This record gives sequence, C-alpha cells and structure tokens, in this order.
Amino acid sequence: MTTLADLEAVALGCVACPLASGRTKVVFSAGNPAASLMLVGEAPGHDEDLVGEPFVGRSGQLLDRLLSEELGLDRTGCYIANVVKCRPPGNRDPVPLEVAACRHFLESQVELVSPKVIVSLGNFASRTLLGVTEGVTSLRGRSYSYGSRVLVPTFHPAYALRGGGVVVAEMRADLVRAKKFLL
Ligand code: URA
Repeated sequence: MTTLADLEAVALGCVACPLASGRTKVVFSAGNPAASLMLVGEAPGHDEDLVGEPFVGRSGQLLDRLLSEELGLDRTGCYIANVVKCRPPGNRDPVPLEVAACRHFLESQVELVSPKVIVSLGNFASRTLLGVTEGVTSLRGRSYSYGSRVLVPTFHPAYALRGGGVVVAEMRADLVRAKKFLL
C-alpha cells in the first residue's frame, strides 16, 4: 500500500504533463492527513508555486478565516489539496490533459486520508469531482455522495474575495453544511 509520503515523493518528481516545465514547486498538500475534512481547490497560483503549499495567498487567508470562524479549525484540523499540483501559466484553468495526468494523485490522497467530508472549492474542483458540467452556483446549497464520503461544493475563496458579502455568507452556509456531516 502506498503511503502519502511515497505519493508525495512521486508527485515531486512528476513530469507527466507540460506544467512540470513551468513550475517552481509542486504543491502537494497542506494540513493533517488524519483529518475528517478535506478541502479541494483547483491548482496552485503564483504564491503557492513559490512556497509549495496550497492556499497561501489572499484567498487562502480568507479560507483560513472562514474555517476558523465556522468550524473552529485551523490547518491542523483539515487536509488541503488541489486537483492539479503544478501551476498553470497565468493562472488559467487546467486543461483536460493536465487533469488526466494529475488526477490519480488526488484520488489516492482521498483514499489515503479517507476524509468523511470533502469540500470542493469553486467551479473547477466541484465539476471535476462530481463529473458534471454545471457551475458551482447551481451545484452548491446541498451535499452529494462521493463514494462512501460526503461532498459539499462551495465557492472558490478567490471568487468570494471578488464577490463580497453575499458570496462569503453563502460560503459560510456551505461550511456549516459540511460541519453537520463531521459530527
Ligand atoms: N487557488 C487554488 O485553487 N488552489 C490554491 O492552492 C491556491 C489558489
């Protein structure tokens, strides 16, 4: 059985798609691999590529604040990963070939961390995990089964930063929805 450490070591040397040539660091995960809550974002941005950790920029600060205020959790109480582990140039959405090359890492992370609840952050992660084409605005507001787990889609914190109070309030409501499945 592979461990998360083995998987991370493979990811750090991965050249399976063209994003490898443009990255500074592979961004594998943050947080606690024993957590019951896993958050899944899209792909590293500029700051994450430099630091090698997901959600370290402004959207990460909002995410940390909402996790603390709604769930009483910091990064030791959840596990965070992205669908794609290397930064797409100019922060564009990952393309299907990149997702196809990278997806097995996320799937293995889900199996090894074995969270009760997965919160998908934004259109891209929500669509990819649920295998649907709808946007997060219509997907959010309810929970889905994801194998034996529960998936709760919510907005991406970068969108919430631009969208203001209403979007942040809806993100809070989604986190409260996720919390009920953690109890
Ligand atoms: N946006 C994401 O989706 N993931 C990160 O790690 C940072 C920004």
